[in-house]
Formats: sequence, structure tokens, C-alpha cells
Amino acid sequence: MDKIFINGGNPLKGEVNVSGAKNAVLAILPAAILAQDVCVIENVPDISDVAMMVRILHQLGARVKYINDNTLEIDTSTVNSYVVTHEMTKHMRASYYLIGTLISRFGRAKVAMPGGCNFGVRPIDQHIKGFEILGSVVDFRENAMINVNAENLSGGFVYLDIVSVGATINVMLAAVRAKGLTVIENAAKEPHIVDLANFLNSMGADIRGAGTDVIKIKGVDHLHGCTYSIIPDQIEAGTFMVAAAATRGEVLIKNVIPKHLESITAKLLQCGVYVEEFDDSILVKCTGRPKRCNVKTMPHPGFPTDMQPQFTTLLSIAEGTSIVSEGVWDNRFQYVDQLLRMGANITVNGKAATIEGVEHLNGSPVKGG
Ligand code: UD1
Repeated sequence: MDKIFINGGNPLKGEVNVSGAKNAVLAILPAAILAQDVCVIENVPDISDVAMMVRILHQLGARVKYINDNTLEIDTSTVNSYVVTHEMTKHMRASYYLIGTLISRFGRAKVAMPGGCNFGVRPIDQHIKGFEILGSVVDFRENAMINVNAENLSGGFVYLDIVSVGATINVMLAAVRAKGLTVIENAAKEPHIVDLANFLNSMGADIRGAGTDVIKIKGVDHLHGCTYSIIPDQIEAGTFMVAAAATRGEVLIKNVIPKHLESITAKLLQCGVYVEEFDDSILVKCTGRPKRCNVKTMPHPGFPTDMQPQFTTLLSIAEGTSIVSEGVWDNRFQYVDQLLRMGANITVNGKAATIEGVEHLNGSPVKGG
């Protein structure tokens, strides 16, 4: 699908079910390699990144099949390669999780540099630092490939200089079968980090503290298969919440964990939007024009950077002037040009955008990133 035609101007009304979390499943699927057994993963979202990760698992020798629309059965006992080529990874950031899992399983990994969205510079120095502290030798001499030799992984103290989701996950993956205790300090606390830790613990790992900034991992010799259900996607849920508000609609968003949405809920309430939380659903209703507010993105439990474009869009039709500051990525306002084509009044200055709310946006051809 290259083009999507949208006839706007209608309030969104009704109910919608949220899928499993993309950023959780993309860590959990490669983590299944550690089981050398059969894992059944439920609530798998139907997205192209999952299809790509499944293809990579196949190419590494795993047997993967859907047993229903959202449930994957993965037998990783047959995985027999630690090489992931550029062809396999070029469109996907999360391919770097294969480094952590493959060194943990085989003591070696040869993985092409990851692809993924362009939010500015995306270094992986903190991942590499963690692997090295656990006893790996990392070599970049082969063009665009990361070669890691990790014959004797052993636990260590890893202080992350930057709160990084990817580095926290990758060090956890490398540490679960390393000898002794690994401590990750200044760890990321995102819900998908807790989800990965819960999955690994269901396979027999010994991980404590996920969801706080100190994670302790005691290495175990062996992990086994399990059945596990992925958490709902915080960003998909948040996107529906903002869409309900932006169109002055009323939407019941189902299959969510309201706790994961607190920072988004707080900002919508500040904009005068009605939000009501239930056990596993959330109702968003908006009758008038949203009010202005300022937003700064931060690592969890701060406002998520992946919700920044959606919220800027909402604020572009809010009453008054809002400022959105990006606290995670260097270059995350590229989409603003497209909003300008629709009549928004936004000025970007480095990592902050000043938004003068307009009455409404107009239909226009726009380009997705
Ligand atoms: C993940 C998410 C992405 C989200 C981001 C922040 C996945 C597949 N993607 O990306 O959608 O926007 O978290 O919530 O889960 N950094 C370093 N060195 C490193 C690693 C990161 O300097 O070794 C910097 C990055 O440039 C960035 C910040 O740390 O400025 C956060 O990055 P990180 O949390 O690692 O993002 P990802 O895991 O790549």
C-alpha cells in the first residue's frame, strides 16, 4: 500500500482493540533462541517488523509457524547459525537484539549493522560497552558487520551512560546465561523491558528489578520453552487516544494497561480532554477544541518520544501556543513539514517546536517517513 486516501472531518466514534506491543515482541522473538525449545507467543501484532523477524528466525534455522492469527509457535532447538546478514536486517532496528541472544546461545555473533527509522544519530556504544564488560571481544573491521566473540560470558557491573532501551535489553539478553551476577545501573524502565524480563523468567532466567533503574541478572545454565502473551502496545493505544481527542470523538480503547498510558492521559487531561480508565480499557471523549499544553519527551515513565508526533498534531489544532521539546532523539521533527502542508503553524528550533494552534487542518497530499 503506497497511498492512503483519507476523507477527514469526521469524529471517530466506537471501540477498538489494541494489538500486542511492537517493541516488546521484537525483543521477545529473538529471545526465544535462548530456549533451545518450543515457545508459544500469544498476542503477536500483525506488523511488517514481526514478519521480518520471523524470516530472520527461519533463516537462522528455527521452525516458526502461526497456530492462529496472533499466536506464534517457535522451535529454536534447530537454530544453527550465528550470522545475520545485511539483507536480513536492513529495514529493522531491533535486529541488534540478535547480538545479545546469539552470543548468549553460541558464544559468537556476526550481525549486520541495524537499519530502522531515521531519528538522527543512533549509536550503539552502550550495547557494545555492556557486551565488553561481560567478556566479549567486539570487532567492527568487516564492513558494516559487528563481529562478537564471547566464548566465556561472565556477569559484571554495567552502568549505562545514557538511559537506553536497546542497550538495557541487549545486556539483559547477553547476561541471562553468563556466569554469575550482572547488574545494570541506570537501566531503562519501559513496559517492554519488564515484558522481556517476565518472558525470560518464564523460561527459567533469574532477573529482578526490571521496571526500576537497577536490574540484577543471575546467570543460569539452561532456559526452557514457555507460553507467553505480549503486553498491549502503549504507542498504538496512545495514538487512538490522541486520534479520538483530535477528531472530537468518543472512543473506547480496549486491551490496554492504563498504567502504561499515564503520561499520555495526564497530558490529555491538561488539554481538557475527558479520559476515563477501566481495568483493561480506556475511554477518551472530546467535545470542544483542546487546550494548549507543553510536552517534553523523556524515557519512561516520562512522556514517550514515540507519541511526540501524534501529540504535536493534536496541539496544532489546540487553543493557544504550545511548546513540544524532544528529550530523547536529535532529529524527531521531520514530519512537521507535512503538517505545515495541511495548514499547521509550527516553528521548529533544534529540539523544540513552538505550535500556534489553528482552528483546523485542511486535507492535502502528505508523505509518510
Ligand atoms: C527504542 C524504540 C524506539 C523508541 C526509543 C526510545 C525499539 C525497537 N525501538 O529505540 O521506538 O523511540 O526506544 O524510547 O524498541 N543511545 C546512545 N548510545 C547507545 C544507545 C542509545 O547514545 O548505545 C542514545 C540514542 O541515540 C537516543 C537515546 O540514547 O538518543 C535513547 O535510545 P534508545 O533508548 O536506545 O532507543 P532504541 O532502543 O534504539
